[in-house]
Amino acid sequence: EPSLNDLARANGRFFGSAVGAGDAGVTASLGDPTYRRLLTRECGLLVCENEMKWYVLRPDAQTFDFSRADRIADFARENGMDLRGHTLLWHHPQWFPAWVAKHDFGPQPATAAEAMVVDHIQRVAGRYPQIRSWDVVNETVDAETGELRETPLSRAMGQSVLDVAFHAAREAAPQAQLVYNDYMSWEAGHEKHRAGVLRLLEGLKARGVPIDALGVQSHIGSGNSDDSVGFDTAQEREWGAFMDEVVGMGLEVVITEFDVHDKNLPADIPSRDAAVAELGRRYLDQMLAYPQTTGVVAWGMADSHSWLQGNWPRADGLPKRPTPYDAEGRAKPLRTAIADAF
Ligand code: XIL
Repeated sequence: EPSLNDLARANGRFFGSAVGAGDAGVTASLGDPTYRRLLTRECGLLVCENEMKWYVLRPDAQTFDFSRADRIADFARENGMDLRGHTLLWHHPQWFPAWVAKHDFGPQPATAAEAMVVDHIQRVAGRYPQIRSWDVVNETVDAETGELRETPLSRAMGQSVLDVAFHAAREAAPQAQLVYNDYMSWEAGHEKHRAGVLRLLEGLKARGVPIDALGVQSHIGSGNSDDSVGFDTAQEREWGAFMDEVVGMGLEVVITEFDVHDKNLPADIPSRDAAVAELGRRYLDQMLAYPQTTGVVAWGMADSHSWLQGNWPRADGLPKRPTPYDAEGRAKPLRTAIADAF
């Protein structure tokens, strides 16, 4: 039977998954042999779920600890899989290591902050030249307001930090597709988020900043904060209008973190799995209708290893079922939906 990556490749795309290095908690996924087999069977590409983020790589201002990211990079190489990079700059105040906020940028903070960003990107992108697609900047549009988020770095050097990051990434990884990644969706309440992302992309393009693609995280399903689970024709139209604007700027699109949140879906497992699959199928059909969509990354391949187990619990406390495989490693209807969408 063809793997999901075989099916994706048949139309010039890729399929892959996020994976954790195996340290702790639900992200201890490389330590689980069933999960490792699943990855090698289905995926052509892996993404470090957390291991390339500042808060893992950089315990303090001086130290770079690549050990966890290297474990995943080695596993990918040993198994003939590609690697995507996530993320050179999660430009969101919540996701920097604590020392950054306390860092003394000295008498010329703008120069010092820029040097820190450029150095970070050179070292990280330089260490993994096999990465041909990088989430350069992640989640820097405030979802509520559509404005750019303030962080310790923007306070030191202004929002030119974003342009600087893309330029540094182009220089450090000249072969790589450079991506802006975010979680705007079709849901009510995301209008400002979508508009803010479009404004950011237009600005980057207008300034000649090297950006090649939008990463659409695609944590779809029942929202993290609201109760919607659907994707009706009006929402589909609105989402299509957003996507048309994005590809109209000459950008490619990557589905970077696909899962289907079942927080508000019925407890009964067959109905829940069917609803998850139906939503996934409908969404992927729309996204893969764009030839600009280069591939799909699942944010975890098995329910037991999904980040959603630890976030936004269901009211009934049941485990979530947001990924293509169940906790025992059996394929679920969502797996069929993904296969059919390719
Ligand atoms: C999540 C991981 O899955 C969790 O393990 C971690 O605790 C927090 O980050 N958007 C992103 C990803 O860009 O990096 C996030 O990953 C999920 C939402």
